[in-house]
This record gives sequence, structure tokens and C-alpha cells, in this order.
Amino acid sequence: MCGIVGYLGEGNARSIVLEGLKRLEYRGYDSAGMSLYDETEQYFNVYKEKGRIQALESIVDMERSPMGIGHTRWATHGKVNRENAHPHRSADGRFTVVHNGVIDNYSKLRDLYFDGHTFQSETDTEVVVELIAHYASKMPSQDAIRKVLKMLHGSYAMLVIDALEPGTLYAAKYKSPLLIGKSDQGIIIGSDMMALVGTADNYLPLDDETFVRITRKNFTQYDLDGEVLPYTMSKLEMDDFTSEKGEFDHYMLKEIHEQPAVLRRIISKYFNETHVHIDERLLKTIRQHERIHILAAGTSMHAGMIGKELLESLAGIPCEVHIASEFAYQQPLLGDKPFFILISQSGETADLRACLLNLKKANHPSLTITNVRTSTLAREADHSLELHAGPEIAVASTKAYTAQIAVLAILAYSMSEQTFDLKRELSEVAQAMEHFLDRYESVETLTTNLLTKRNCFYIGRGSDYHVCLEAALKLKEISYIQTEGFAAGELKHGTIALIEEGTPVIAIISNDKTAENTRSNLSEVKSRGAHTLTITFESLSENGDEIVLDNINPSLAPLLTVIPTQLIAYYAALKRGHDIDKPRNLAKSVTVE
Ligand code: M6R
Repeated sequence: MCGIVGYLGEGNARSIVLEGLKRLEYRGYDSAGMSLYDETEQYFNVYKEKGRIQALESIVDMERSPMGIGHTRWATHGKVNRENAHPHRSADGRFTVVHNGVIDNYSKLRDLYFDGHTFQSETDTEVVVELIAHYASKMPSQDAIRKVLKMLHGSYAMLVIDALEPGTLYAAKYKSPLLIGKSDQGIIIGSDMMALVGTADNYLPLDDETFVRITRKNFTQYDLDGEVLPYTMSKLEMDDFTSEKGEFDHYMLKEIHEQPAVLRRIISKYFNETHVHIDERLLKTIRQHERIHILAAGTSMHAGMIGKELLESLAGIPCEVHIASEFAYQQPLLGDKPFFILISQSGETADLRACLLNLKKANHPSLTITNVRTSTLAREADHSLELHAGPEIAVASTKAYTAQIAVLAILAYSMSEQTFDLKRELSEVAQAMEHFLDRYESVETLTTNLLTKRNCFYIGRGSDYHVCLEAALKLKEISYIQTEGFAAGELKHGTIALIEEGTPVIAIISNDKTAENTRSNLSEVKSRGAHTLTITFESLSENGDEIVLDNINPSLAPLLTVIPTQLIAYYAALKRGHDIDKPRNLAKSVTVE
């Protein structure tokens, strides 16, 4: 999704803003732009380009600047082109704005205030900047911006430059994330912590409906009525995991390989010598509730499905999983005493935020499980648990999925009467992951031979079926092969009609109770021409099984069976020459509903 970076200070805004935008590339974008202050000409230059940041960089003809703002756009209103790229400037040349989010009432405001005006772009943002200019002709710019903010419906993270105040930058936030970082050198502001790393020593995530006036050395935070809001900044500490690709060709491959280390890190964070340490107040609260509702989207929802099985089987608490975008507007009957778990790698997914706002209004207790400690969902839920997976840069989520399952397993275990040694079992999973990853390259040939068609099926039963859903999502999002994850027994009730000569079908078999049934389903598709591949465990393997994994505790099987499927997706995308880390049309953090 869109990214924002702004800087004011003694450093060079040109390089700081460009570097910040590059750090946000992983979020997905289709055009980029920036505005830099030229001290000699006393003028804010605007540069924009369609495509990559490198294209933008090549047209920025200024070497140095004390102040600048930048933006990466992921199109929502209007085509991908230079005109629609940010920043947008008011027709009188006074105000320049970059904006993340969506202004739902922009066309109403446009028709009401600007009848007959010719806009340069199709964006909602240009209406906002014109409105600011309109009111600033009648009142101080701060008042004008706050007045306009109050008129907007939707979501925004916004930076505003007033050419009449070249040493000042204004920022505002509602629903879309925005953080301010500070060092002795100056102030940086970004829509993602990654933009601040390396420039700021301390940071402050902004709350909704705050308005900030930033100068080179300091900033003041206000509410929308102009009342000053106090704040305390936190020290910015980067995770141990680096955000560099290192020896790997792609972030996705690197992140797949990090999974054993992430699992060990989770173990070290959540266990002491023998016991789990999760805040007793959280466990007590959950125990006082009768049903858990898990809310999530995409891969995180697939992890939630495994979490449901673990919470029900280990802790004996009934649990339901909901698609966040559905739950936000179509809340089912919740029953007595519901407790909510929100799962989100980024902690910024707008669909989940919409759910959380409703939950808070209804006074329902909530826990966020996230990879980003400072994220909106982590801050706004009653409790939060961290994934400790380190920055996940590839759009296709891999290590966050296994980290989510591991943390859910630890949570379920800590509320259970179980006596088995989860710490040891998880360590064995990490070892088995490593053992498989040592021979990961064999998956390339298997994938190339198998995935020759435009479609593919993953089949399995129970938790294997839930891993199939995740495996299918991974394959389609980066290889663009139409893939379905299917409950193996359900195939013959209709979908088997799609099986023809050469259709790839991949089976996941990790459960001894259903292994034979799934193998029968595999035979059914084979006899109709399907080309098959089996992922299973040593104890369940048969001659000819292509991927055989080390035996582990069966309730933790998804942590391991998913890994070959991540590699299958990776190699399928590699073979097709796709942009693996930034697949088309997708964004890392989905901050619009
Ligand atoms: O940051 P979140 O976990 O809330 O993101 C949810 C989904 O957008 C995300 O998992 C998406 O499905 C990934 N691209 C999957 O690889």
C-alpha cells in the first residue's frame, strides 16, 4: 500500500526521503513522487514518476535539501500514471500534500466546493489540497488544515507543506498509520517504522485525529480542535533480524530459511527453563470467557484456523475463525462472554482495525498477535503478544505464518492441563525444518516437472486442509497459477470434474487417522489423469512419495508441512520470471478496507 516519508533537519532530505521510500518498497506501489525545498530559489520542487523509485531518483535534479516529503502510491482512485502520483499541489501553488488512505466523501466535497474547477488528477487527495488552499485564504494555515480534516470521511495519513512557511511541515493521521522519529539532527515522519530506521533515535506512533506541527528541531501535537496533546517518545530499537537479503536472491527465500531461527527465538522469548511465561492477567481474562473468536485476513486467517484447532484441542475452549472484512460489517451471534484474538503480521490491516473499533465500542476484550510491537492493532487491543519474527519484507507471508502458529500453540498450551513438553516439541520442529531446508533445492525440479498447467489443487484433511488453503494462496499470489486448497473428501462432490490429463494435485498427509482416505482421494484423481505430488511424514510415507519430512508431534504438523509448499510457490514464480517479492496488484500491508 502507499508509503509516506517526510524529513526536516540538518541532514539531506533528498537522500533521507529516497532511502525511506526504498525501505517502504516492500509494501507494494506503482508510482512514486517527492517534493524538496530549494533554499536558493526558495521554492518547493515536485518530482513524480510512474513505476519504480529508481525512475523517480533519476529525475530529481537537486543534490541537497533541508526539507522534503515523499510518497509511494498504490492506486485506489484513478489510473497508474504520473498525474495521479503524489505529491499533489494546489492550483495556487501554495500547498503540497502526500496522503495515504481513502477519502470516501471526496466527490461530494469536489462537487460542493469546486464546480467548474479543472483538476489535474483523478485522486481524492487533490480535492483535499484544494480545500486546504480554499480555507487558507481566509484563516491561518493550521486552522485551515484542521478545518478540512474535520470535513473528511474515510482514512488518512497526510503531510502538508505550506510554501509560505518553508521551515514547517504539518502532519495528520486518522486510521492510516503514521510515526514521527526524532534525532539530534532532525525529524523524520513515516507511515511505517522501516522508514525511520537509521535516521531516528526515538519515535512516537501518532494516535487517530492528531495534527502535528513539525519544525527542524521539534514538533507539537494537537487534537483537531487545536488543544496541545502531551506525548512521550520511545527508544527505537531494531530487531536482531536484518532487513537485508544477504546471500539469497529474494527476501521470500531468505524468510523461508529464517523459520527455524524464528521458532527458536519464539521459544527463548516465551519459555524459561521449564515454564511458559505469558502474562497471567491475559490468561486469567481468557479463562473467564466462554468462546474465542479469531479475526484475521489472508495468511493470518489461515494461521488462525490452525490456532482454533490448537485452542480447542489443547485448552478445550470453543473457538471460531472469521474473515475480518466480513466480520466488520456482518457480525454473527457471538454467544455469551466472547474473547477476541486478532492476528496480523503487520498490525495495520484496515479490515481488522474496523473490527477492533467495533469491539472496543461494545467493551469486548481483545488480544492482538502481531509481528510489529508498535503497530496500531498492538497498541489499541487490551493485550498483545509479539511474533518475534523480525521484519518480513516479501509480500508473500512465510515466517510470520509459522510464527503465528507457534505463538498460538504456546498460548493454547499455557491454558491447558497438558503435561507434554511443548518447548522440546517445538525445538524438534525447528530441527526438522532445518533438516528439510538443507535439501530445499530438490523442490525446484519437482515444481518444474509438476506445475505445467494454469491451475493446481492442494488437497488434505483436518489441519492438512487448512495448510492446503495457505499453500494455495501462496502459489496463486506469486506464480499467478489458479490454485485451490480443497478438503480431500469434498473433491468428488463436484470439483473433480476439473481434473484432466496433467492437472497438478498436491496432497498433504500428516494425520494417521485420515492418511488412507486422502491416499484414496489421490488415487481417484490420478486415475483421471492428474499429476500428483505427496508431502508427508516418515512414519506415514509410502514408496514414491516425493517429499518426506521428519516425524514431529502431529499437532504441530502445519509448522513443517507448509515449508515445502512455500518453496513450491517460490520456484513456480521463479520459473515464470515474476517479481517474487513484489507480486502484481498486491501490497504488504493492506491499510484500506
Ligand atoms: O498484516 P496482516 O497479517 O494483517 O496481513 C493479512 C494479509 O493481507 C496477508 O496475510 C496476505 O494474505 C499475504 N499477502 C499473504 O501472503
